[in-house]
Amino acid sequence: MAKIAVMGHGVVGSGVVEVINTNRSHIAKRAGEEIEVKRVLDLREFPGLPYTDLFTKDFQDICNDEEISVVCETMGGLHPAYEFTKSLLESGKSVITSNKELVAQKGAELLKIAKEYNVNYLFEASVGGGIPIIRPLHRCLAGNDIEEIVGILNGTTNFILTKMIDDEMPFEEALALAQKLGYAEKDPTADIEGGDACRKICILAALAYGTHVYPENVHTTGITKLTLADVDYARSWGGVIKLIGRAKPVENGDVSMMVCPMFVPNESVLSSVHDVFNGVLVKGNAVDKVAFIGRGAGKLPTASAVVGDVVAAVKEKGTSISQTWKPADRNVVTDYKQGSNKFYVRVVADDPTTAKQLIESCFTEVCYLTRENQPENELAFTTGMMVECEARKAAEQIAKQGIKVLAKIRILDLI
Ligand code: HSE
Repeated sequence: MAKIAVMGHGVVGSGVVEVINTNRSHIAKRAGEEIEVKRVLDLREFPGLPYTDLFTKDFQDICNDEEISVVCETMGGLHPAYEFTKSLLESGKSVITSNKELVAQKGAELLKIAKEYNVNYLFEASVGGGIPIIRPLHRCLAGNDIEEIVGILNGTTNFILTKMIDDEMPFEEALALAQKLGYAEKDPTADIEGGDACRKICILAALAYGTHVYPENVHTTGITKLTLADVDYARSWGGVIKLIGRAKPVENGDVSMMVCPMFVPNESVLSSVHDVFNGVLVKGNAVDKVAFIGRGAGKLPTASAVVGDVVAAVKEKGTSISQTWKPADRNVVTDYKQGSNKFYVRVVADDPTTAKQLIESCFTEVCYLTRENQPENELAFTTGMMVECEARKAAEQIAKQGIKVLAKIRILDLI
């Protein structure tokens, strides 16, 4: 019988206990032995649960317990999760985490410690909730040169955007619903401003390209400035708006990365990833394109990924199966301003006819869009491929002539 502990009895932690108790016999068959939750760490009280007697507020009750071989860290945040994880690995226990913030900041260091102590630090649940993406990327796709990763990596924002697109639900109402359903972070700023998706694309890039990537080096824009007008123009263009994380290797070991809302064409599989679902497209030079789609947040889907890692850690005890990557000795993320994209732009102008002439002289391959109830002074258009800094200069030039730029959104070229 393998004894495990769970640190943090929130949405994910309580889901882990539930999945282990509900699927006990299936899990035992796959792990080769029964798995039992011996301790649950949380500072809050949880009276009335069938396992209330397992709770402790003292981390040492877990760290010093030699019977416990695997610990699930579902607390979130950097501290004290980092210190706890380090101590546990150094005590010879494997740690399973759903904590993307910690993996994105300290992954290289914690993986190195795990290797030194011949235990595992596994983090399948840190990206894509219930979607198996970490192990497929570093194991099943290990024979490939990964040419690009593009993903919808945040369930909360995808849920909000779906409500805005399908139901014309106001942003705040959709966010409140996502929080109620347990999808959002404690502080949803990380969801709506793109920080959570950024951590996840950094973890995928580190796995695919072998070097730690710090989220603060990745240009990140969230969804808070999107309007229903932009959603309508995306529809008339033939697509939808999604929050996209993207990583693509360039020369010298550098990686071009970005997190931002994008127009996604209806032909892309990502356009049909709705609600709390996440979708990740990986392009390998041998396999071509592979899509991974599933529930990107929520209690049981995320617990499913955690418990999968628990089973792996129990089964592979004494073997270090975690993928490692190098600490970052330099910033490998290229300057996004030198990258190129096509853009959608929405403006208001007192005199649209004159404005059109100026727009066409500043932007390339201008193509106008229309929408129902379009105000007379509003223009929306897409551009050809432009270097980021040139597109910005063009927007500044038209703004100087009194044309107010209300939105500028990148367009995803199909991978
Ligand atoms: N807040 C996150 C999301 C939870 O909405 O995707 C899963 O990481």
